[in-house]
Amino acid sequence: MSDSTSNETPATPHRRRPRYAGKHPRRFEEKYKERDPAKYADTVEKVLASGKTPAGTHRPIMVMEILEVLAPQPGEVAVDCTLGYGGHTLEILKRIIPGGRLLGLDTDPIELPKTEARLRALGFGPEVFTAHRSNFAGLPQVLAGAGLEGADLMLADLGVSSMQIDDPLRGFSTKADGPLDMRMNPQRGQSAAALLAKIQAAALAEMLVTHADDPNASTLAPILAGRKLRTTAELANAIRSALPRLMKDEVDLTIRRVFQALRIAVNDEFSALDSLLRVLPTCLRPGGRVAILTFHSGEDRRVKKAFEAGSQAGVYAEISREVGRPSPEERRANPRSSPAKLRWARKADTAAS
Ligand SMILES: C[S@@+](CC[C@H](N)C(=O)[O-])C[C@H]1O[C@@H](n2cnc3c(N)ncnc32)[C@H](O)[C@@H]1O
Repeated sequence: MSDSTSNETPATPHRRRPRYAGKHPRRFEEKYKERDPAKYADTVEKVLASGKTPAGTHRPIMVMEILEVLAPQPGEVAVDCTLGYGGHTLEILKRIIPGGRLLGLDTDPIELPKTEARLRALGFGPEVFTAHRSNFAGLPQVLAGAGLEGADLMLADLGVSSMQIDDPLRGFSTKADGPLDMRMNPQRGQSAAALLAKIQAAALAEMLVTHADDPNASTLAPILAGRKLRTTAELANAIRSALPRLMKDEVDLTIRRVFQALRIAVNDEFSALDSLLRVLPTCLRPGGRVAILTFHSGEDRRVKKAFEAGSQAGVYAEISREVGRPSPEERRANPRSSPAKLRWARKADTAAS
């Protein structure tokens, strides 16, 4: 513990925080006010009003729609497969107390402890809320480790959080320069840079199509495959140079698609989702509800197919017939919600899983 009454000169000289130079876009480390929302509530309000997400936070999407389908009740067991900033979890926690319990999973070892600390500070002790650094593909093991046979309600809000996208050091950002990493868990697997350096052109072309429906896959793949690109800016520039005749908007869209394809591959996102969909019925109690938010067609197709197959097999008593979308108000207030699609299912009361 530090002693604030000491007169000794500190061992390390005081360093001024970086100041915002007044130019757009601001660098992540300059957004110090947004990252201390308790102290700078007015700044955070302004950022939110402009349709942006305050640095170091994440705005939960389709909260009311999700609560309606999950219908959390006091005393129930809930699982948030993708804890993130804990926005959905917080709303579920409020509704399952007293007597309820929520397990929050996330593969990200950097953000998970911060979210756990925030929820603890809000008064949710370990008897109500536990955080698990785990891929959701390992959900059965997490439930067994917690002494639970299944959950009454479950949520998966797929993809990456705003904290991950907005921090250039994580390498997800198409806008700010940083190491070409893209791992949700940087302690595991290979970075996007390592993947790109090793991959063959044919495999990259296929990946760009299956992971991001990229119409420029056959042009880009031979140019990018095997390249030793170290940063996100180097990759974005390589894509720009490869498509000299495309309009700027089209190039920007292509950059986003290539980043998405690489991110999905680096984190093996489709395999994890397929595993989750396979084990879901065994992880839900009879009558249990699950909601899944997806952000691109590759994810939505998988969820739709799995729910339809479960419905036909009698595992699910009811599934969403239509896909849910964020309201126009939500899309305006939080443009990052725009691609979201919500599907849900309810396990049959008597279904054999
Ligand atoms: C869109 S964010 C979730 C945001 C959260 N619902 C909230 O309200 O803050 C997705 C989160 O899921 C995590 N994630 C993605 N794939 C995962 C997986 N296979 N297993 C566990 N966590 C995963 C990411 O690290 C990220 O924190």
